[in-house]
Formats: sequence, C-alpha cells, structure tokens
Amino acid sequence: MNSDPLKSIKVGICGFGTVGGGTLSLIQTNGEEIARRLGRDITVSRIASRSLKVSDFSASGMHVGTDPFEVVNDPDVDIVVETLGGFEPAFEVVRQALANGKHVVTANKALIAERGNALFAVAKEKGVTLSFESSVAGGIPIIKALREGLAANKINWLAGIINGTGNFILTEMAEKQRQFDDVLRQAQELGYAEADPTFDVEGIDAAHKLTIMASIAFGIPLQFEKTYTEGISHIQPEDINYAQELGYRIKHLGIARISDKGIEMRVHPTLISRKRLLANVDGVGNAVLVNGNAVGSTLYSGPGAGAGATASAVVADIIDIGRHLVAGIAAPIVPALGYQRPHQDLSVMNIEDIESEYYLRITAKDVLGVMAKISRILQDYAISIEAIIQKEADSDSVPIVILTHSAVERQMNKAIAAIEELDDVVAAVTRIRVENFSD
Ligand code: HSE
Repeated sequence: MNSDPLKSIKVGICGFGTVGGGTLSLIQTNGEEIARRLGRDITVSRIASRSLKVSDFSASGMHVGTDPFEVVNDPDVDIVVETLGGFEPAFEVVRQALANGKHVVTANKALIAERGNALFAVAKEKGVTLSFESSVAGGIPIIKALREGLAANKINWLAGIINGTGNFILTEMAEKQRQFDDVLRQAQELGYAEADPTFDVEGIDAAHKLTIMASIAFGIPLQFEKTYTEGISHIQPEDINYAQELGYRIKHLGIARISDKGIEMRVHPTLISRKRLLANVDGVGNAVLVNGNAVGSTLYSGPGAGAGATASAVVADIIDIGRHLVAGIAAPIVPALGYQRPHQDLSVMNIEDIESEYYLRITAKDVLGVMAKISRILQDYAISIEAIIQKEADSDSVPIVILTHSAVERQMNKAIAAIEELDDVVAAVTRIRVENFSD
C-alpha cells in the first residue's frame, strides 16, 4: 500500500476514449487543488489504449502502450481506472487488478450490473476498493448519496432519468419536433451515446444503472436479469403531443420500489405531471428522486454523460481511495453496495404483478359504438378510466387517448389484447405507464 506521504498516488488508465481522456485531462487541470484536498499528488503514470500514439506522450514521462494488462501488472500503479467499456477484456482487467491488490475505479455500468457480484467478492477477499460512482448518472454523486448520505433511511422508492442520450432525444423531439434518428446521431457526435447506441434507446444502459442503484437502496444482490426493460424507440411524436395536452411529459425512467409484494425494478417510458421537477430535467440532464422513510423525498440532478461530468465522478473516486491511502487504511470503510449484511430474502417482482396508471392510444375506425366497446372491455378487467380524449378523424381512423386509474399490469395486458382484437381497432395499442410518485 502506498502510504508514503512523499510519494504521489499513481494511477493507470485502461481505455482512452471520452471518459479515459476526460479523466487524464481533469487530473492535469485540477491537480493542484486536488492535491490540497488530498494532501498528496495524483499522477497518471500509465495509459493503455489501442488508439494512442506513444509519440503523443513522449515528453510527459507517462508509459503509453496498447496492453491493459501492463497497467494492471505494473507494481508502481496504485489505482487502475477501467474505462474500456464492455465485458472483455474489461472483466479480466478489473479482476486481475483486484487480485494484484490494486484499487480499481470503473465507469463500466454493464460490468458492475452484470458481473459486479463476482468482482466485489474478489475486492473483498483482497481488501481493496472497487469504485463505480461514474457508472450511474454521470456527474451526479448518487452512489455516495444512496450509500452514505441516506444510510439512516429505509429507502421506499427511487425514480430517475438515468440515460442522458435518451433524455436528449425525448427533449429535442418534444421541443423542436426533431426526428429520432437525427437527434441520436448528434448524441453520438457529442460523446453521450454508448458504443452500441441501442443500449441507450432500448433502455439497457438505464437498466444497468437502475440495477446498481436498487442494489444499494435495498441491500440486495445485483440482479440485472430481473430488471424489466423497455426503450423509447416506439414513442411517436403524437404521444409526446397528447401527453403535453393532458399536462404530462414523457420521460424514460428507471423506477425501483419496495413493498409487501416485493421489489419492483423497471425501466420504461413514463408520463410524469409537468409540474414535477423531474419532468423538467431536459437534454443530457439526469436526475434521481429518492424517497427515504425518515428524510422524505430528495432530488439529485446534473449532467448524466459527457467527458467532464463522467471524469468528475471518476476522479472523485480516485480521491476517495487516495484518502484511504493517506490515512493508511487499505480496505474500504463503506461496503461497495452499502450493506455488510445484505438482505437474502427479498424477491424482485414480475412486471405483470406491478400496479400502475396507464396512458393508452388506440387507433380505431371512426364508427358508431367503438368507444362503448373499448369502455366495456376496460370495465370487464376492472380498469377505471380517468380521462378520455378523442381526436379528429384522420381519413378513416381516429386516435382515442385514455388515461386510466391504477390497475394491475396483468389485467391491463389482457384488456389491451381484447381491445386489439376488436374489428374496429386498426393498429396496435400504444401503452405508456404513468407515475405520480405518491409519498
Ligand atoms: N450513454 C450513457 C448516457 C453515458 O447517455 O447516459 C453515460 O452513462
């Protein structure tokens, strides 16, 4: 352990894309102030990247190569920063670094959400830290807030806009009537989107982040495979417009909630009243609303993607580990997922068992009696209607928009199937869940 007060803390960076590059740049730009906070200098001594030229760094004294295992196996490196992304070689790089007794900071939410249980076990066995603040909600210190700031609470629920790319797309579609593909391309150019942007638009990235937050909030193992995931690619501009007419905005939310029935973990487009602060978080912004039984609701918001925001969280983790080193403490004081004794008996609910209010858009023939048939089906499944708007007919068909009171998802699925079977209904029903965040 590097506890020599005269030696700088040595960092090795594996992967030099948006986040890795942002991390080096931030350490260089704010190095003096960080050293004042920490009491030691932080030096980036090694970088591994497939795309860097050694000559770019020849004057800097840094070792630059292509092999991340050279970083992991360098005895001088105290902290390995993993910003490779994906599973291979990232998993083995992190595992090997931990096994070598090095601390690791990762921005890789997929790795933590899907393979974190195994990696945290290695970190615990070796008495080193595996930090991942930057993996959720970019620059917002939500992991620290959940794990430490709210540690006195039982968390009841949390809900967040946790994918910057998706929020940027929905905002641009709503405010500037732009096309989905055009906005996605811009998000890629700005460095917001994942290497595979379907992770953003199909909700996988948000599900990774929700899995991590739910685990910390409720003290349960990481269970990505049980998180219900629905993306935003089926959202049509007319849904955004009808939602606005009804006083709502459509946001792509990750929701985790605990009740007597179990734990809900779900990612999907959601109607939120436009009066809610969360509904007004726009662009690449992320925000997480957390309800604890002592504190009530607290809201955390900020930039959710981009080099500076993500590097801010990576470097904060480096400083946190540095503070342990300065104090001569090797193993982390705070458990990685917040609990020394996690709950073993809490199960994650099937999406069909959850209850929600719903927005339905039904495209029907403009004929007498169709509304009565739809109302009867909803009544048969004990689904009560809160509001209906029937829009003007477009040639032969007419859009009917319905808001319902709370219903069980299984019943709603059956009702939608029955509505789609009506001869007068001419297209698949669009269903979007509505969230009112009752405290
Ligand atoms: N692709 C992610 C997003 C990057 O858009 O939120 C930050 O995790």
